[in-house]
Amino acid sequence: MVQELAYHDIYAALDFQVSMGADEATLAAPVDRFALSKALMEEAREKAEAERSPAARGTPAVVPPPKADPIGDARAMAKAAATPEALAQSLAGFPHCELKQGARSLVFSDGNPKARLMIIGEAPGRDEDIQGRPFVGRAGQLLDRMLAAIGLARDAEDAADAVYITNILPWRPPQNRDPRPEEIAMLKPFVERHVELIGPDALVLMGNISCQAMLGRRGITRIRGTWTETLGRPALPMFHPAYLLRNPGAKREAWADLLSLKARLRGETPP
Ligand code: URA
Repeated sequence: MVQELAYHDIYAALDFQVSMGADEATLAAPVDRFALSKALMEEAREKAEAERSPAARGTPAVVPPPKADPIGDARAMAKAAATPEALAQSLAGFPHCELKQGARSLVFSDGNPKARLMIIGEAPGRDEDIQGRPFVGRAGQLLDRMLAAIGLARDAEDAADAVYITNILPWRPPQNRDPRPEEIAMLKPFVERHVELIGPDALVLMGNISCQAMLGRRGITRIRGTWTETLGRPALPMFHPAYLLRNPGAKREAWADLLSLKARLRGETPP
């Protein structure tokens, strides 16, 4: 009975304390709650850090993205192409040149692939971009007349009378701006392979950009008309027909270069 009363007294005392806000029994020794919360925070921080650490996730720290190698990729893709058609397809799938995004067409080539003469121009303009063929605008029409004057045509069936035409860049640069060095560098392996697959006896390099890309030289006024060599083949730098449209006075030199070209293709000593 005595025990029962004591129980009720103790219970009432406890109930009173709880109603006053007590939520924990005190211990014999005091507890430093500030120190405790500091320790808990430190423990939580260490735990979070461990979870964030790559080793804990079993993955490498930062996976560096593979380094882009446009020129290396261009070389590999161009080398793998066994025909001009396959090369055109490779170019179409080349992922590194942004010019492709702004262009309507891939302007690959025109003319007879068996031609003994291969002409390398600069880049497509508006008309070429629309039609998907190189040199079809005003400059191209002048080029056709120049070639006809020495008995050559892109559609000639006989390889000796035929011409095959391409450009350094297969996509039109915006507003016909000059090709950038990095664009030329990443597309040059395709041009080199293109020349290899066509196998012409001679090359004509039309204008400064073509000479810069294939010879590493500019200054067309100085270097035009002088036979040189690139990719193991004779090459003749000439004024670009677009330049001749703007500077008709330079047609005299262009005519001299055409005669030199004609002689070389006939196996004669160029004048
Ligand atoms: N100029 C070039 O160099 N190439 C073309 O195809 C057209 C104009």
